[in-house]
Amino acid sequence: KLKISIIGAGSTYTPELIEGILKRKESLPITELVLMDIDARKLDIVGRLCERMILAEQLTCRVVRTADLDEALRDADFVLGQIRVGKLAARILDEKIPLKYNLIGQETCGIGGFFKAMRTIPVMLGIAQRMKELCPDAWLINFSNPAGILTEALLNHSEINMLGLCNVPFNMFKSIRETLQLDHPEITYLGLNHLSWITAIEQDGKDYLKQALEMGLNSEAMKNIPSSGFSKELIQMVGAIPSSYLEYYYFKNKKLDLLRSSELSRGEKCVQIEEELLQIYSDAALHTKPELLSSRGGANYSEVAISLVDAIYNDKQEVHVVNVLNHGALDFMEDTDAVEVRAVIGRDGAKPIKVEGFENRHIIDYMRMVKAYERETVTAAVTGSEDAAMRALLMNPLVGDYDAAYACFQELKEAHKAYLPQF
Ligand code: G6P
Ligand code: MN
Ligand code: MN
Repeated sequence: KLKISIIGAGSTYTPELIEGILKRKESLPITELVLMDIDARKLDIVGRLCERMILAEQLTCRVVRTADLDEALRDADFVLGQIRVGKLAARILDEKIPLKYNLIGQETCGIGGFFKAMRTIPVMLGIAQRMKELCPDAWLINFSNPAGILTEALLNHSEINMLGLCNVPFNMFKSIRETLQLDHPEITYLGLNHLSWITAIEQDGKDYLKQALEMGLNSEAMKNIPSSGFSKELIQMVGAIPSSYLEYYYFKNKKLDLLRSSELSRGEKCVQIEEELLQIYSDAALHTKPELLSSRGGANYSEVAISLVDAIYNDKQEVHVVNVLNHGALDFMEDTDAVEVRAVIGRDGAKPIKVEGFENRHIIDYMRMVKAYERETVTAAVTGSEDAAMRALLMNPLVGDYDAAYACFQELKEAHKAYLPQF
């Protein structure tokens, strides 16, 4: 028996996951798939498309649509977490309110991401608690955001098996393979979620990082990030290839201008894309994932998520980039810090691969600073301490200023109060 449950299955991304599951139907003999969501309308539309996709591929597994979390979790083997507490409406507030205070407004970074963490951590810890009772041996594979901070919270405040995921590393690797025309490079990738760098590229004993830096090689910008791009000078100064989320940090002012001058926030655009997708999904003749879905930032999520499930279920001992507790992989971080690194994946989960002799001071110090922010953020989320919240925001390089942080914190707290049980 193999039971997989998707929490937040009303997401328009779900057909991509189903596609990934169908692609691996030989190695993942699923007997039960539970699509769980509290949004009845979206679950109905998305769920029916998923059922048609499964039927078209003649996969014989029980498919259940439900709003009941316990039903989804009971005896599950894998729980895929993709929730968005307060939905896109809450994200739009995270994106727009900070701009009034001269702060970056973004889904996962800065004070917007901080509030996403405040809303999501209590819900995810609640899910972990139910898992403890209903499926204590199951794996939670979480790509709800902010994925790194949620990993930090779940692995330090619950006892479940859990890994955090993001598609950024996969997409960066892909663009490096394509640009440098390498087919089996060894790539060293490290950082925190949405704060990461590629620090080495090798193939057959030959070093390709220098070449990449000389080319000013840019990791492909994610579709959701209005790109200002990295200059060659910046990449060479850093000595590594930053993920496109670093644009918010390295070009804060330019980004702020860009966010200010765009008519719609990214979340508002996503509402439009989502409505269009739901229209398309409603067509009973459709039984594959439509192309429009690839205009969302989450491209390749299914590959990342389902290949990870496959690696655990079939004990593949394969290398994947995951969010996991450091446990010595990076000797400059604490053992209990959630980091985004390469790890060997098998039945027992992830063993982070030790990075030897790493000496890039800029990256070391940047990671430690943002980790200090993330740790204090988790403290604020679980205790409801506003002092901890302010301490966290003062350490975030995208916030920093006390007056702006305090005023914006108060306004966002009020705006999100239905989803903030801790404050
Ligand atoms: C990338 C990131 C995700 C993020 C998404 C946003 O996939 O890795 O963490 O949620 O982009 O895309 P969107 O289309 O919602 O702006
Ligand atoms: Mn991500
Ligand atoms: Mn430990």
